Amino acid sequence: MKAIQLGLLGAGTVAGGVVQVLQRNQAEIRRRAGRGIEIAAVAARDVAKARHSLGDSVPIGDDFEALVRRPDIDIVVELIGGTERARSLVLAAIAAGKPVVTANKALLAVHGTEIFEAARERGVAIGFEAAVAGGIPIIKSLREGLSANRIESIAGIINGTTNFILSEMRSKGLDFDVVLKKAQELGYAEADPAFDIEGVDAAHKATIMSAIAFGTPVQFERAHIEGISKLQAADIRYAEQLGYRIKLLGITKRRDDVGGIELRVHPTLIPATRLIANVEGAMNAVLVKGDAVGATLHYGRGAGAEPTASAVIADLVDVTRLITADPEHRVPHLAFQPDALAATQVLPI
Ligand code: HSE
Repeated sequence: MKAIQLGLLGAGTVAGGVVQVLQRNQAEIRRRAGRGIEIAAVAARDVAKARHSLGDSVPIGDDFEALVRRPDIDIVVELIGGTERARSLVLAAIAAGKPVVTANKALLAVHGTEIFEAARERGVAIGFEAAVAGGIPIIKSLREGLSANRIESIAGIINGTTNFILSEMRSKGLDFDVVLKKAQELGYAEADPAFDIEGVDAAHKATIMSAIAFGTPVQFERAHIEGISKLQAADIRYAEQLGYRIKLLGITKRRDDVGGIELRVHPTLIPATRLIANVEGAMNAVLVKGDAVGATLHYGRGAGAEPTASAVIADLVDVTRLITADPEHRVPHLAFQPDALAATQVLPI
């Protein structure tokens, strides 16, 4: 069967990871997807730079809009980040009947309702595993592995950059700015690192998990957000002396007592003996509590080229299976649909 043809939007860190992992694990991926998955073309803002980082094996151009509409493209992979241009490209892809795989948490937290609705109407799949917690398959876990449960709460270290900063400051006594620079060099930080440091990135991810877990519409505007910029080295030291670690947590919780959902991001004191307190570096961990299963802890790399590519490609395998089974794409399987019966909304701040 003819290989699936991808149109990649963006040529940054994650795109590099996708190109590498698709090439390296080609045989396994083909076996699991039932057919080959190939990159037909990449669209990049700076073609020369993209060619330098991605190599000569894939054609690279700079016309994003044309790539999205090309008839030979089966799946659009959105890796440009940001909200406005990404929104219009993703909506254009959906309108053209093309399934989309995206790693863009900001896009889904801010425009998720519109995008999921458009995908449902057009009957195309949207994969977004890579948008939350990098390589940890947390979206799949919430939707599939834990689908028998009434989810009670989710609390996670879901921003690798801030966890890396807090860990290095605590264990090596390094300065905030030095560690941030290291996180940028390692490809963990957002294009604008204020999104990491001020908790916005974690809030995007917590918003997506909250909507999936509780069946509510995406409600980023209602999240309470506090980052780590006001923390000082002394806070981290004092916490340690008292037997605690400071972690930036994204928390979402059912509050049946007041009929709502909590959605918040803030630095949290956690007893140093807890498993989640010992999640160090750029690692992520998400603690999900369900009524049947109890507590489950999902741990892994939350940022970086290949861990994120791992999640992007998992979605590509899923979407490939879907569109191979139903070439008309009338299977909006991966799109998220708020539960019309969910009485609960995110509580106002
Ligand atoms: N800037 C993000 C982080 C990248 O540090 O976790 C992964 O979403």
